Amino acid sequence: MAQLIGCIGTSHIPAIGGAIHKGIQQEPYWKPFFDGFPPVREWLGQARPDVVVVFYNDHGLNFFLDKMPTFAVGAASQYNNADEGWGIPTLPPFKGEVDLSWQIINTLVEKEFDVVTCQEMLVDHACTLPLKLLWPEGPCPVTVVPVCINTVQFPLPKASRVYAMGRAVGEAIAAWDSSKTVAVIGSGGLSHQLDGERAGFINKAFDLQFMESLLTNPEWATQYSIHELVEKSGTQGVELLNWLAMRAALTAGAGAGVRKVHSNYHIPISNTATGLLALEKVAGLG
Ligand code: DHB
Ligand code: FE
Repeated sequence: MAQLIGCIGTSHIPAIGGAIHKGIQQEPYWKPFFDGFPPVREWLGQARPDVVVVFYNDHGLNFFLDKMPTFAVGAASQYNNADEGWGIPTLPPFKGEVDLSWQIINTLVEKEFDVVTCQEMLVDHACTLPLKLLWPEGPCPVTVVPVCINTVQFPLPKASRVYAMGRAVGEAIAAWDSSKTVAVIGSGGLSHQLDGERAGFINKAFDLQFMESLLTNPEWATQYSIHELVEKSGTQGVELLNWLAMRAALTAGAGAGVRKVHSNYHIPISNTATGLLALEKVAGLG
C-alpha cells in the first residue's frame, strides 16, 4: 500500500513568483520568508515523496465565479499553468498521478463527497508556487494530484466538512494499491484580506494559534463557522481551509501521530501573513 509521509502548509502569494523570477530571495524584504524553506527541502530530500496531493483554491484561472465547485479533483496526466495577469512567469506543465486521482475520486464519492472531476485542469499560483518553493531547481520531481476547495465565493464549505473531506483523501491514499510515497500540501493563508474596509487585515495571534493547533489539536479550527473564520483571518485568510484539509489527511489510518519538522511565520509579504509548517507522520504515535 502507498505510504503518506507528511504534510507541508505554505502561503502562495503571486509576488513570491516574481521574487523567484528576479532572483531576489536574499534581499532584506524577502529573506525572512525564503529562509524558512531550506530545512523543509532538506527533509523532503531525505523522505523523497513520489507524489504530492495539493489542497488549494483556484483564483479564477480554471474556475470562475459563474461555475464554482465546492470540491474538485484533478484527474489529468498533465496540468498546465497559464498567465493569471499577475505578471509572473508561467511554469512548465506538471505531471499528474492519474491512478491516485481516480483512487481519491472513487473514495470521496463512495463517502458521499460528490466532487467535480477534472480531466483537464489549469493550475494557478496557489498550486504551482508551493511546488516551486519546495523544489526550486529544475523540473518538478514529484507527480501531482490537485484538490481544489472553494475558499473564494460564498457559500464556502464549513471547516468541519473540509476536515472530513481531507481525512477521506488521507484514507484514499492509505488504501491506494501502490508502492509509492505521498506527501500532502496545503496552500494559502495565513491571515490576509485584499478587499473592503478591512483590506490589509492581519491577525498574528490567531495565525500562531492555528499553526500550533495543527500540531497538537488538529480539529481546533472546526469549532468556528466560516463567518467566524473570515472575521478572525480575513476574507482571503480563510484559505487556511486548505491547511485544515491537509492536516486532516494525516489523521487517516493507523498511527496518526505527527512530529514537527519545521515552521516559519513572517509578516508581511504583500498583504499577507506568511506561514510555513512541515509535519512528518510518525508511525505508532497518536
Ligand atoms: C495575495 C495573497 C493571495 O493569497 C493571493 O492569492 C493573491 C495575492 C497578496 O497578498 O498579494
Ligand atoms: Fe490566495
